[in-house]
Amino acid sequence: MKTYLITGGAGFIGSNHIIYLFKKYGDNIKIINVDCLTYAGNLENLKSVENFPNYKFYKTDICNKEEINKLFIDYDIDRVIHFAAESHVDRSIKNPEVFANTNILGTLNLLNAAKNAWETNDGFMPGKKFVQVSTDEVYGALGEEGFFYEDTPLDPRSPYSASKTSADLLVSSYVFTYKFPANITRCSNNYGPYQFPEKLIPLIINNALSGKDLPVYGDGRNVRDWLYVDDHAKAIDLVSEKAKDGEIYNVGGHNEKRNIEIIDIIIDYLLKALPDDDKRKKLISRDLIKFVEDRKGHDFRYAIAPDKIKRDLGWEPETSFAEGIIMTIDWYLKNFNWLESITKGEYMKYYEEMYKDR
Ligand code: NAD
Ligand code: TYD
Repeated sequence: MKTYLITGGAGFIGSNHIIYLFKKYGDNIKIINVDCLTYAGNLENLKSVENFPNYKFYKTDICNKEEINKLFIDYDIDRVIHFAAESHVDRSIKNPEVFANTNILGTLNLLNAAKNAWETNDGFMPGKKFVQVSTDEVYGALGEEGFFYEDTPLDPRSPYSASKTSADLLVSSYVFTYKFPANITRCSNNYGPYQFPEKLIPLIINNALSGKDLPVYGDGRNVRDWLYVDDHAKAIDLVSEKAKDGEIYNVGGHNEKRNIEIIDIIIDYLLKALPDDDKRKKLISRDLIKFVEDRKGHDFRYAIAPDKIKRDLGWEPETSFAEGIIMTIDWYLKNFNWLESITKGEYMKYYEEMYKDR
């Protein structure tokens, strides 16, 4: 039975990943979820698995040396799937320090704990793996043409992407220096259930359902390459099981869309999905779209070339954007309570502060 240490498992991608692993492996794995529950961590996401005997949650900061080392002593960990991070570009522009702490020093702390636990006099114990879940944002930004490949030079532009790049370089340095058994995955923008409504898709769904302005940064022509979160989970699992140590894999599925297209798709689908007697339907229209001041240093376009992961590991996304966005919006409609409960209090303060000058 393999034991997984999942960091950031109460966040968007981490919680979807835990649910995916339990669906795939059932009782044949043990999962230790380590998350310090920042504003983005929500144990509600894990209600469906929280009572499983082979699941255990620790409210722990990944920067805490003692507690992270203790986990490696208490459990014989086979896989580290490292999601925990500060993940929002806009927040990194306002407050970069916490990004350096968590994303760089937290990753270093995990690397050291895993290295201490897994290293023997004859090298690393066989069968161990550390997967650093990174982002295509480490490659910088593209113009209208071209794609990011694994050998595209690293050129991060935001404090968020700079901190992820630094973490990736630490992971690579451990592979090179110590032959540490790690891989790095770099995915494009994820979407799906449980995404915190500071990110574009859930923010637009939430605002539209409340009749609030739909803020579009700049002219709305920036492009993101969208990946359904379950397709991402499958890719990470393949990498952790099959990839040769040290390999880096881009994960994306040629789902490029301009931001303004996404907003149009969400408005159209909400108007179709909501029954006529739903009061929220009357609030929704294109008049809500508001072009606001652009993000500082706004990366124009991201687009992943997933050729290597397809060739080496046979991974291909299974969800088209047309299907995935409907599943996502339907999930938010069905789970409106989840959305309402996290958009009270602190979120309102964040929203006022972030959007007040725009
Ligand atoms: P998220 O913000 O939804 O979740 C992050 C989780 O990490 C939260 O549960 C939070 O509580 C936890 N966390 C933060 N700081 C911590 C700390 N110091 N110690 C322990 N836990 C901590 O993020 P996400 O969207 O799920 O992203 C997960 C990973 O995937 C991140 O590493 C991110 O860089 C990467 N990624 C995300 C996307 C995307 O589209 N969301 C795209 C590419 C890469
Ligand atoms: P986001 O979801 O923050 O992801 P990332 O910056 O990591 O790609 O933003 C996706 C795109 O949507 C990005 O081009 C910025 C834009 N955006 C808006 O236009 N309005 C918004 O309110 C937000 C949050 C993002």
